[in-house]
Amino acid sequence: MSDQNTGYPKRKIFICSNGSCIDSSVSRDIYAQLTSLIQEHGLDSFDAPRQVKCALSGCLDRCINGPVMVVHPDGIWYERVTPQVLAQIFNQHILHDQPVEEYIFRKSKPAGDH
Ligand code: FES
Repeated sequence: MSDQNTGYPKRKIFICSNGSCIDSSVSRDIYAQLTSLIQEHGLDSFDAPRQVKCALSGCLDRCINGPVMVVHPDGIWYERVTPQVLAQIFNQHILHDQPVEEYIFRKSKPAGDH
């Protein structure tokens, strides 16, 4: 559900497209795949209970094992996000709240959880 106070989506996913952890064209392909998955599942609509947005980002300070991707506000940071891995992350984490441990390199506290 969108945050009623800010209109911010439940989740926002950033994919590094800086080009050092992996060729940026690979990151753009992952972004396109993720965008399609979000749309196919109706998660991009404003009133979707599990609204998700995604964006390409600059460097996420991993700089190896790309594509690198972070899911906010969960604080889950993924590496080696191939098309097959993205499909697994989408089905397991985004749709069923079960992060894919095998590809996580960092867990940070959710925003506001100090
Ligand atoms: S270049 Fe992708 S994480 Fe730094």
